[in-house]
Amino acid sequence: MTVHRPPAAPRDLFFFRQFLKSPGSIGSIIPTSPVAIRAMLDPVDWSEATCVVEYGPGTGVFTRALLARLGPDARLIAIDTNPDFTAYLRQAIHDPRLILIDGNAANVETILAVHGFTHADYVISGLPFSTIPQQVAQNILDATARAIRPGGAFLVYQYSLGILPRLASRFSRVDLGRAWRCIPPARLFYAWRAA
Ligand SMILES: C[S@@+](CC[C@H](N)C(=O)[O-])C[C@H]1O[C@@H](n2cnc3c(N)ncnc32)[C@H](O)[C@@H]1O
Repeated sequence: MTVHRPPAAPRDLFFFRQFLKSPGSIGSIIPTSPVAIRAMLDPVDWSEATCVVEYGPGTGVFTRALLARLGPDARLIAIDTNPDFTAYLRQAIHDPRLILIDGNAANVETILAVHGFTHADYVISGLPFSTIPQQVAQNILDATARAIRPGGAFLVYQYSLGILPRLASRFSRVDLGRAWRCIPPARLFYAWRAA
């Protein structure tokens, strides 16, 4: 795996410019902090996963952390509607396990099928569910509940509890976490599909 790490400051400035262009679909002025990323990913054993999907990779802060945890034969399918982010990631991360998709998370089932998967072990979402169009949010949640294998989970990080009832109505169990040592503190959701 070759990961080229541009200095954090230009990367964060690039992220901020994307926010100014499309605040509703990006939902945050800065990428997720390393503290929140560790808090979200550490409870899961990634070494056994064969197919993981990431929604909204942005500048790839979770993408890099996931690739560092996944096994050599796993695939990480990262889907983003913003072509500037996917173009950036194509030149920044060179890893044969990473499949970058210019597309909408609502189409996750078709995207999985095109790449030879019936289900994902885990889906992780960086989408701002409170600011994207609500019909799109509903389509994404419905498609995700179908796309995850039995026993798999949907991992979501948000800054409010608003998503909880929508996860609880689609998954058999939702575990909650918090990442306190970051600004703002992040809410972490692990929505499990029954085994
Ligand atoms: C808050 S940013 C998260 C970026 C990164 N994961 C992080 O944690 O810093 C939200 C991302 O979701 C993407 N996005 C918004 N709506 C989307 C959709 N329907 N499908 C896929 N990506 C979407 C945006 O382009 C942006 O990259």
